[in-house]
Amino acid sequence: LNTVKSIYRSTADYANKEVTLGGWIRTMRVSKNFGFIELNDGSFFKNIQIVFEADTLSNYAEITKLGVGAAIIVKGLLVETPEAKQPFEVKAQEIAIEGTSTPDYPLQKKRHSVEFLRQIAYLRPRTNMFSATFRVRSLIAYAIHQFFQDKGFVYAHTPIITGSDCEGAGEMFRVTTLDLNNLPKKEDGTVDFSKDFFGKETNLTVSGQLSAETFAMAFRNVYTFGPTFRAENSNTARHAAEFWMIEPEMAFADLEDNMEVAEEMLKYIIQYVLDNAPEEMEFFNSFVDKGLLDRLHNILNNDFGRVTYTEAVDLLIKSGKKFEYPVSWGIDLQTEHERYLTEEIFKKPVFVTDYPKDIKAFYMRMNDDNKTVAAMDLLVPGVGEIIGGSQREERLELLEKRMDELGLKKEDYWWYLDLRKYGGTRHSGYGLGFERAVMYLTGMSNIRDVLPYPRTVKNAEF
Ligand code: 4AD
Ligand code: MG
Repeated sequence: LNTVKSIYRSTADYANKEVTLGGWIRTMRVSKNFGFIELNDGSFFKNIQIVFEADTLSNYAEITKLGVGAAIIVKGLLVETPEAKQPFEVKAQEIAIEGTSTPDYPLQKKRHSVEFLRQIAYLRPRTNMFSATFRVRSLIAYAIHQFFQDKGFVYAHTPIITGSDCEGAGEMFRVTTLDLNNLPKKEDGTVDFSKDFFGKETNLTVSGQLSAETFAMAFRNVYTFGPTFRAENSNTARHAAEFWMIEPEMAFADLEDNMEVAEEMLKYIIQYVLDNAPEEMEFFNSFVDKGLLDRLHNILNNDFGRVTYTEAVDLLIKSGKKFEYPVSWGIDLQTEHERYLTEEIFKKPVFVTDYPKDIKAFYMRMNDDNKTVAAMDLLVPGVGEIIGGSQREERLELLEKRMDELGLKKEDYWWYLDLRKYGGTRHSGYGLGFERAVMYLTGMSNIRDVLPYPRTVKNAEF
């Protein structure tokens, strides 16, 4: 089979030649003697027009009865049509029916709401919006690998099932082979996890960071890219229970180095997608988020903002804006604050650094003021927090002290603590929420629409 993508990209090579295409009917118009099919062959965002005639096709009548969504193979001549809306079309010589489509096919030609399309998530990749979204999602993943691999980072596959809680927030999905209706108990009445498959309590990972740190102490620069899980009961447009995260970890790097890599990475993937998915990006700009392309170009040409948490809180208070959740030093910034900072005050991506230690995870490096830690979050217009990262605490005594303060069981983290004894060094890393990056680059406003099959509260169909 030829592909529509290669025909679009090098039309001259195909002009007046025979092509064979396999694809699905998006629309069909027929009259007595001829008809038009808009075919999508999956290789490309755009459709190709097929013209077919009663004189040429022996199965003309059968073809005209095909429903939208049917799968066909078309053999025909590619002809250039410079005066028409589309630059070329295929004059069919033969059309073979691979799979018919019944009249109840839900994607008839009309505009469907995203809410409706979520209910038929198994068909939505066949619409323009979701075809564009999942193509761009795939490209961003590729760009991320390319960015890190070109820099010599080693891709580390960190475990999905783990016995530790990286973020210490307790928002974990349990993994067990025990019979929930008949749990083995210890003498004190608590569950006896030594009888479980792994012999201890385990859960799905919330982050690959702790394991990535161990690899960074061997390879210097590493990254993970895999699924992560959070059992947080937040029903928002930017939280999912299963999402993908990219987590670079770099030895001999401080917070400044960390931010430089994050900024370079984000600009790299934006440029990559603009270069490699112009049709899709044009579509998003016209139909999903007007001004998207201007905004992305602007980001490429400007430095990201930098502000400390303390300065950010001052700016929010001074703005005089009435927030639903009032601002004062020590609060965890809410989405409304994050978006105000990046959309109204900075009007570009901004790194917020040096958060109060009490609202951040145990592993972040304590600053000299003993109140804040060397953390950085990247906030972007339209989405809010897209990256969370920090310089890590490499000083064993301080790390242990912090874990004690937070009531973390040090025996669960013995290997993590040992890293600080065996050639521990300054190191930093961050986590990019992959879906949030896809939202940011496409203008899609709900995380449910950038995940093929979103896992959110009460949503595990398909
Ligand atoms: O800020 P978070 O929780 O940071 C970490 O997990 C660190 N261990 C990362 C690191 O330093 N290696 O999560 C990182 C990013 C967030 O900025 C956000 O983009 C995304 O992951 N994220 C979510 N995305 C979708 N749904 C959720 N429930 C998310 N929780 C976090
Ligand atoms: Mg965070």
